[in-house]
This record gives sequence, structure tokens and C-alpha cells, in this order.
Amino acid sequence: MKNIKLISHPLIEHKLSFLRDKNTDPFQFRLLVDEITYLMLFEACSDFELKDTTIKTPICETKSKKLKTKVTICPILRAALGMLDGVFRLIPDASVGFLGFQRNEKTLQAEFYYSKLPKDVEKNIVIIIDPMFATGSTAISAVKHLKEQGVKDIKFISLIAAPQGIEKFSKIYPDVDVYLAAIDEKLNEKGYIVPGLGDAGDRIFNTL
Ligand code: URA
Repeated sequence: MKNIKLISHPLIEHKLSFLRDKNTDPFQFRLLVDEITYLMLFEACSDFELKDTTIKTPICETKSKKLKTKVTICPILRAALGMLDGVFRLIPDASVGFLGFQRNEKTLQAEFYYSKLPKDVEKNIVIIIDPMFATGSTAISAVKHLKEQGVKDIKFISLIAAPQGIEKFSKIYPDVDVYLAAIDEKLNEKGYIVPGLGDAGDRIFNTL
């Protein structure tokens, strides 16, 4: 699965241990999600194209580089809202499109309920964010929806994945790179990642 990029970095692994710990409180949990997202985004953007530009320093005019393409971030409601600040700190002028998928607890399939995308989103690089990549159903539906809107350049950033989810996704969308901080063992019968970190949305928004 060439599209699966496991970002291995001592700082990320260290922070993941605190993130997974059930005794980590919501305040710390939110900080860790933010920090890990920031570190992962740095890597996920490493192939972004640049264009030449000219700027004036206080001393003189000089040639410089800027990002060639605008970036749109698509958080999947609600847990990915906890990742958004980490993205804004690195790409402050990113536009944001919101996608809403709700998991049907019986079928474990993602059910679409909301989309609000920026104008001209199809011209941008779109980075979907969602902390947990479990069955792959939400990821597949989100990418399908964006492709239907004409988006061509899509990346996905998730903190923790289950093997079944990334395998299913990669068969359908081998062209979409998925950046992960960890690939865990399996899913349990309720569709939770094992060992995982529990329900990311509940831990971010203190709704356990
Ligand atoms: N969503 C979560 O928040 N946690 C999981 O383990 C799987 C899906």
C-alpha cells in the first residue's frame, strides 16, 4: 500500500503514549491532538509545489518562493475539529470545508449528513482530517464526495488507523495518500480501534 505513509518520529510516538492513556484529561488530550497534527502536517506537505515570487525585504527586492496551490482543509465532524488549530498554525490561510458523517452503530457504515465546501474547492489541494481511521467507511465516503465535486488532489491525515480500514481504502483510492501516526492491531466488535484511544470526539469534547 504505497499510499499509506506511516510517519515515524520519536516526538510523535512519545506524545501518542500520553494521548492513548485513559488518565489523560480533556485539556491535555486536546493539546496532544493539536501537537501531533502539527508535526504530521509538516511531513504531509513535504511534496507541495512552489512558485517563484518576488518580495521586498527592508534591504532590497529578491526572488523567493510561495506555495503554488491553495490548500483547503476538510475536517470530518466532529472529532477532527480538535485537529484544526494544529493545521492553522502551519497553513494560516487555508480555507476550510466541513464534512459530516455519522456512524450507523449497527452497520458501522458512515452516513452522510452535511457538506459545506469553499467556492472553487476543486482548484485546491484538499487535506481531509479525521483523528481515527477505523473501518475506512467514513474516509471512503469523504473522498468519494470530494471527487464528485471535482477535487483532484486529495490527502488524508489521521492519527491512528486499523489495518482493515486502510486496506479497504487503498483498494478503492490508491491515488490518495494517507498520513498516519500509528497503525494499530485491529477493530473490536463495536468498530473501535484496538488498542486505540477510545472515542476521540468524546475525549476532545469531554462528553464521555
Ligand atoms: N472513532 C473513534 O473515535 N475511535 C475509534 O476507535 C474508532 C472510531
